[in-house]
Amino acid sequence: LNYRVPRTRKEIFETLVKGLLRLEYRGYDSAGVAVDGPKKTSNDLNNTICLIKKKGKVKALDEEIYQKDLLDLDEELCTHLGLAHTRWATHGEPSALNSHPHRSDKNNEFVVIHNGIITNYKELKKYLVTKGYEFESDTDTEVIPKLIKYVYDNREDDRVTFSTLVERVIKQLEGAFALVFKSRHYPGEAVSTRRGSPLLIGVRSEHELPTEHIPVQYNSGHVKEEVQEKNSHNKPDCSNAINSVGDGRAVEYYFASDASAIIEHTNKVLYLEDDDVAVVKGGQLSIHRMNRQAGEDPVRAVQTLQMELQQIMKGNFEAFMQKEIFEQPESVVNTMRGRICFNTNTVILGGLKDHLKEIKRCRRLIMIGCGTSFHAAVATRQILEELTELPVMVELASDFLDRNTPVFRDDVCFFISQSGETADTLMALRYCKDRGALTVGITNTVGSSICRETDCGVHINAGPEIGVASTKAYTSQFVALIMFGLMMSEDRLSLQKRRMEIIHGLKVLPELIKKVLSLDEKIKIIANELYQQKSLLVMGRGYNYATCLEGALKIKEITYMHSEGILAGELKHGPLALIDKHMPVIMIIMRDSCYTKCQNALQQVTARSGRPIILCCQEDSEVTKNAYQTIELPQTVDCLQGILSVIPLQLMSFHLAVLRGFDVDCPRNLAKSVTVE
Ligand code: G6P
Repeated sequence: LNYRVPRTRKEIFETLVKGLLRLEYRGYDSAGVAVDGPKKTSNDLNNTICLIKKKGKVKALDEEIYQKDLLDLDEELCTHLGLAHTRWATHGEPSALNSHPHRSDKNNEFVVIHNGIITNYKELKKYLVTKGYEFESDTDTEVIPKLIKYVYDNREDDRVTFSTLVERVIKQLEGAFALVFKSRHYPGEAVSTRRGSPLLIGVRSEHELPTEHIPVQYNSGHVKEEVQEKNSHNKPDCSNAINSVGDGRAVEYYFASDASAIIEHTNKVLYLEDDDVAVVKGGQLSIHRMNRQAGEDPVRAVQTLQMELQQIMKGNFEAFMQKEIFEQPESVVNTMRGRICFNTNTVILGGLKDHLKEIKRCRRLIMIGCGTSFHAAVATRQILEELTELPVMVELASDFLDRNTPVFRDDVCFFISQSGETADTLMALRYCKDRGALTVGITNTVGSSICRETDCGVHINAGPEIGVASTKAYTSQFVALIMFGLMMSEDRLSLQKRRMEIIHGLKVLPELIKKVLSLDEKIKIIANELYQQKSLLVMGRGYNYATCLEGALKIKEITYMHSEGILAGELKHGPLALIDKHMPVIMIIMRDSCYTKCQNALQQVTARSGRPIILCCQEDSEVTKNAYQTIELPQTVDCLQGILSVIPLQLMSFHLAVLRGFDVDCPRNLAKSVTVE
């Protein structure tokens, strides 16, 4: 939203569409924008809102905007509020009608964009239909603009503010939402609020802002400039908050689900809390609470993000996923940076150190996540059990909740999430918190819900991950969890040798990752042989079982081939029935304590005419002689080997998807950040 900064409508569209492109990884089945239309002369409501919506990716919307020729693109506007949304369908198929912004009526009196899910929409819809409101989509969201119009139509006082209307609406909503409203009745005014879904506001001034003052007025709070401390997971310290008052200078505000949409405009952001209502009016931002509770922190700190635009651009790579795979030598270093002292063999995780005693006293560690983040827990479980000497449970967040799993005050629960916003993981976090457990976040997104709601935690610092299929976040989560184990075992004499071996392994890890990445061409050749297959099995055990699960997930996510990660110990209990000379199977056989058992599995596969592609250590002639194809990896410490063994499978899935002609970064039906349960 621009204030006193004249912009052409074309520039406004460009800003909106670019923001959507950066957010596209969160959903991409349809997209839409709402902007101010031409002013009418002969109408008491002379503002108009123009809606443009299109099925498909953001690019299709962009083309639609220019084809339609609806608006004067060169018209200069001083104040403008535009809304834009890219959708991942939950209710209603992908279509222009079901895409956002949704509207109150054919005159577009109120329009809204929504991230989340309204669980009581059926009741609300039923009620509104009895009141004569006509619905045009199959979505849950559409009840929101209809409801605000209903509240507006039934207002008692003509001076009712936009934010009062919004508050009345959200009182009726159940579920999760981040919302931005725009209305013909309140031109140039934006009202935004959240409950359960992420929402941040970027602030950009026409001139460089002095660091400690942001010209924003808060109704009920203060503003503080906070430089983000990368290694700390703690909440912002707001003790020195400054109460600064907007001085009407030209300012732009950007409301977004995550920072990548706005980073090219500003790195100054503040994160809204649940039930905050933010209003931009007359170029000033104010935030107030829906229901203010005693003792609540009234401060929303303005933070300076360290994210750079370049980090969210593809550069010379074909896809974000490919770029992120090749970033891993650096991203694992960023996870370790400032935390491991290789001379003294010490590991300090700043966000956990104050809770270490409590963690050491706990009854058990519970690791909770979804998808790839869950696999990072599986990958490190064994070494965490060894280094912490505690029982470690690994849990898929959805299942953990379905089972009403018993959780106790002396449990320590880890929530592993790249985005820090996955609804299942967030719900599990709240569940554990309610039961008094200590909660620890392992996230890649500073300021995310999981990061803010946990008692303590670790930022993995892998840098923004855009490809829907997670790659570098996995290896960084892996490293972060290993570092946690090392920190926990610092005073255990019997474990020192093991610790030193692992710390040395971490030191040389980036070099070994580079060696694995150099196998890309070979992997591409193998992918060429495999890409027309229907199925691909990935088998292994011990430290490399997680690689099988993660490799198979990558393959199914982006190539749409059926793929299964199989525990080699379970081979004879069922999966062996799948093996014949046609079934492609990748076997992971590393020189660790499972080596002999893996060789047995290999024998069983070759005895059934299976033709395994084997991931093994360099120069392992024993294994390679039975292989149809081999991918030879450098050997490292057993518990770190999974970091190296997953990379060929990341590359393999990438090449398979390209060869099969699919969009690697935007796999069908999936979204990067799933903020609905
Ligand atoms: C989605 C993504 C997966 C991801 C999972 C957990 O399903 O498509 O790639 O692993 O969510 O995401 P998180 O952000 O919590 O790690």
